[in-house]
Amino acid sequence: MTQVLVLNGPNLGRLGVREPEIYGHASMADLEREAAVWGSDLGLEVDVRQTDDESQLVGWLHEAVDARAHVVLNPAAFTHYSYALRDAAAQVTSSGLLLVEVHLSNPAARESFRHYSVVAGIATGTVAGFGFDSYRLALAAVARKLVD
Ligand code: DQA
Repeated sequence: MTQVLVLNGPNLGRLGVREPEIYGHASMADLEREAAVWGSDLGLEVDVRQTDDESQLVGWLHEAVDARAHVVLNPAAFTHYSYALRDAAAQVTSSGLLLVEVHLSNPAARESFRHYSVVAGIATGTVAGFGFDSYRLALAAVARKLVD
């Protein structure tokens, strides 16, 4: 089965507690449960992970390249400044794998420091602003692109 790593960056382990007016009331455990159902409906084996650690996230992107896994990535705050993450994400797409950048909120409608993504330029595409549906839409896009 096609493998997809759903990778989440810093502070996303605090979903449900963290600024619920922006990020909602559901937790990362809820996302794991929902993503497993969406994945199985789409014929994808989905592995949801979260870390606050940049090197861990870079390592998971290397793992995706080596395992030939596609990636759905919410880089969280790293979106806006981590060139290390961008360079690791570039290895995913340059090796012919899909990488969809996702955000729960719409960073373009928030503070100006969130308007720039260092990842967007090397991503296959971006889905932002739809809460957990951003992930659902990203997984659907991966499944769809694989049959195109
Ligand atoms: C986020 C948006 C980022 O600007 C922020 O730093 C996050 C979450 C989102 O999912 O909306 O941590 O990636």
